[in-house]
Amino acid sequence: MTESKGKYDSRNKLNNLTGTEWLKLTKSFLFSEKCADDKDAFKHPAPFLIKDVEKMISLFTKEGMVILDPFMGSGTTSIAAYNLKRLSIGIDLSNEYKKLATERFAKKGMQENKDYKYIVGDSTEKLRNIESVDFVITSPPYHNILKNNAKGLRKDSSAKGFRSGSRIGVEYYSDNKNDLGNQDTYEDFLKLLKKVMKHCFNRLRNDKYCSIIISDFTVDKKEICVQADIVKLMTEIGFEFVGTIALLQDNKPLYPFGYPYSFKINHMHQNIINFRKAGV
Ligand SMILES: C[S@@+](CC[C@H](N)C(=O)[O-])C[C@H]1O[C@@H](n2cnc3c(N)ncnc32)[C@H](O)[C@@H]1O
Repeated sequence: MTESKGKYDSRNKLNNLTGTEWLKLTKSFLFSEKCADDKDAFKHPAPFLIKDVEKMISLFTKEGMVILDPFMGSGTTSIAAYNLKRLSIGIDLSNEYKKLATERFAKKGMQENKDYKYIVGDSTEKLRNIESVDFVITSPPYHNILKNNAKGLRKDSSAKGFRSGSRIGVEYYSDNKNDLGNQDTYEDFLKLLKKVMKHCFNRLRNDKYCSIIISDFTVDKKEICVQADIVKLMTEIGFEFVGTIALLQDNKPLYPFGYPYSFKINHMHQNIINFRKAGV
């Protein structure tokens, strides 16, 4: 958000945006937006797009603040934070993803322990020992969807600067028992996600925000309202639900799942589900 339209209100404690810029980001939808640096993340099965994360960071933080992503993967959250002069802490189970992220960070001249921290380990444990943060933004594994559908790996079209929608094989995050992608049941997945988000709640400063980016998906071929379950577990932890932004992905391929017999939805958006830790 480099453009500076409108007037900055000196009472603004939330972000560095003018009133006009702030208002635009209160819409209940956003169009997902690619940029050239996204292609370096495509060795990861499910990376964020940098611009999408930048929008949320610019809305929920000021320059110099600290952003946490407990499922950091290819490091997109840190890159978005760095682009906007914020600091970041990331955790991921996988050494391989840290390596991928570090290559991306090096290209931007980012320095470990100055611009970002990337801890390899299990967020259900590692989050106990990190400092307080000003914003949490993250996307957990979608239950065991990569394993179940056997279609995590995509055709490498990154040289052409985009990612093909077609999938070519099996790739999942890890074999670790605490990998949220390895839980046998959807209920176990929610339980482990709740454990991680409870730690995030404890690390988050009062009055600050947390955004979870996830789409609805199917479990045993049945459509699940994941969003409802996440709002339930987060409010049980103590977060206040402040609204969902639909992140529209209108360029995904359409599949004729139920055609010509029954309606089966094509998920063409992610939900950015937003919460606030109300101060006491
Ligand atoms: C959907 S991906 C996140 C992708 C990331 N937003 C990016 O831009 O690359 C979920 C990540 O969670 C990690 N993960 C799963 N369980 C974890 C756990 N218990 N602790 C830390 N990381 C975990 C996986 O290794 C995977 O990289």
